[in-house]
Amino acid sequence: MGLRGKDSVGLVFWVVVLCAATAFHGCSAAFFKKRSSGSSNGVGSSVVFQLRGNVYPVGYYYAEVYIGNPQSLISLILIQAVISLGFNAMLPALAVRRNALVVCTEAMCKSLHAPPAYKCNNPTDQCDYEVQYADNGSSLGILVRDIVPVRYSNGTVLGPRLAFGCGYDQHVSKGAVSPTDGVLGLGNGKSTIVSQLRSLGLIQNVIGHCMSARSGGYLFFGNELVPSSGIVWSPLSPPSIDKHYSPGPAELFYGKQSTGVKSLPIIFDSGSSYTYFNRLAYQVFLALLQKSLVGKPLNVAADKTLSICWKGAKPFKSVLDVKQYFTPVTLSFANKKSQLEIPPENYLIVSSLGNVCLGILNGTEIGLGNMNLIGDISLQNQLVIYDNEKQQIGWIRADCNRLPKSGTVPL
Ligand SMILES: *[C@@H]1O[C@H](CO)[C@@H](O)[C@H](O)[C@H]1NC(C)=O
Ligand SMILES: *[C@@H]1O[C@H](CO)[C@@H](O)[C@H](O)[C@H]1NC(C)=O
Ligand SMILES: *[C@@H]1O[C@H](CO)[C@@H](O)[C@H](O)[C@H]1NC(C)=O
Repeated sequence: MGLRGKDSVGLVFWVVVLCAATAFHGCSAAFFKKRSSGSSNGVGSSVVFQLRGNVYPVGYYYAEVYIGNPQSLISLILIQAVISLGFNAMLPALAVRRNALVVCTEAMCKSLHAPPAYKCNNPTDQCDYEVQYADNGSSLGILVRDIVPVRYSNGTVLGPRLAFGCGYDQHVSKGAVSPTDGVLGLGNGKSTIVSQLRSLGLIQNVIGHCMSARSGGYLFFGNELVPSSGIVWSPLSPPSIDKHYSPGPAELFYGKQSTGVKSLPIIFDSGSSYTYFNRLAYQVFLALLQKSLVGKPLNVAADKTLSICWKGAKPFKSVLDVKQYFTPVTLSFANKKSQLEIPPENYLIVSSLGNVCLGILNGTEIGLGNMNLIGDISLQNQLVIYDNEKQQIGWIRADCNRLPKSGTVPL
C-alpha cells in the first residue's frame, strides 16, 4: 500500500525509464570485503540512512541512497507493502552493464515469481518483474545488481552488490505524484535490501524507522540500534507475514474511555502519509471527537487540505497551539499488553491556511475495506521496529532528530 496525500490512494509513480545497457568501468567486488564465514551473523550491527521529508506539507518521508559506479544519489520513499523488491527506481544516470543483470535462473528471480514459476528459457536471460500497487500504479522492469554503499553505525562503509528493480515502464496512478526516484521496500520479502544484507551476514533482518515531527529522521537495518529496554513489543500476526506488518487486532480507546470498537485489523505502513480507520472506527472516533469539541474555540473551516479542518480565532502556527483541545487515542493490542498511544500531535496537522486538520481519515471511503492503517502521521517521534527475526513489532517514543552516527555516504 502507499497512500500519500489526501485521498490520493497514492502510490508512487514514475515516468518511463531506460536503463541503457552500456558498459562502465570495473568496480564492485574490491569494495566489499566478504566476511569470513561463520565469524558473524550480523548480530550487533546496524546500517543507518538519514531520512528527509515530513507528513505536511511534503507528504512523505524518503531515504537517499547512493547506487552504482559512477555513483548516483537516488531518493526512495519508504514503503512497507512492496514485498518483492529491494527497491525499484528510475535510474537516469545509471548505466547497467550486461553482467549487472540478475539472470532468470537466480533464486532472487525465482522468489519474485513463484508461483507460477517464472519462465526461464535461457539461463542468461534477464529477470523481468512487474509490481502492481494498491492504487493501480505499476512498475515493469528488470532486476539488476549493483553496488549500494551502506554505512555501519560505527562509521565503517561497505559496498555490497545488491539486486534491485530497474523500472522501464512505470505507470502513475491518477492523481499520484512523486518527485522521488522510487520506493524502498521495507516488507518481509526475500529480495528486500535488508533481507539481502542479512543473507550476506552483515546484519540481522530488523528494520527501524524514526520519523521526526519536525522533518527528517533516520532509518536503520540491523539490531544494534534497537534500545535494550522500554520497547513495547507485539508479535506480528501471522496473516500479515510477507504481506503487511500487523501487531494483530486492536481495541480503540478515546482518552481512557473504551469506544467499544474491538478487533480492529491494524497494519503499520510508512508508505501512507495519514492514518486510516475503517468505517466503524472512524464514525465512532469522529462522533466522540466532535462531541469533545463542543464549547471549544474551534469552528469547522472551509479548508480542502484534508476532509475535516477547524479554524480558531486566529491562524494556528503549530499543532502545539491546539493540542489541548484534543484527546489522545489509544490502540490496545493483545489484551492491553501493548498499546500504541496516538496523541493529538500524531493525528493533527496545521494547514498552510493556519487551520487544524484531522489526519485520521476514512479508510472505507478509499477502498481499504475493514483495514485500519497506521501511517506516518501517527508514527512520528516514535522509533518503530520491525523485527523479522523474532517476528515482532515494537515501538517507543524517541527523539528522531538525534540521528545515530553515520548516514548514507558515497564510497
Ligand atoms: C564496525 O562494525 C562492523 C559490524 O559490526 C564491524 O565489522 C567493523 O569491524 C566495525 N568497524 C570498526 C572500525 O570498529
Ligand atoms: C484499477 O483498475 C481496474 C481495471 O482497470 C479498475 O476496475 C479499478 O477500479 C481500478 N482501481 C483503482 C483504485 O483505480
Ligand atoms: C466512511 O466511508 C464510507 C464509505 O464511503 C461511508 O459509507 C461512511 O459514511 C463514511 N463515514 C463517515 C463518518 O463519513
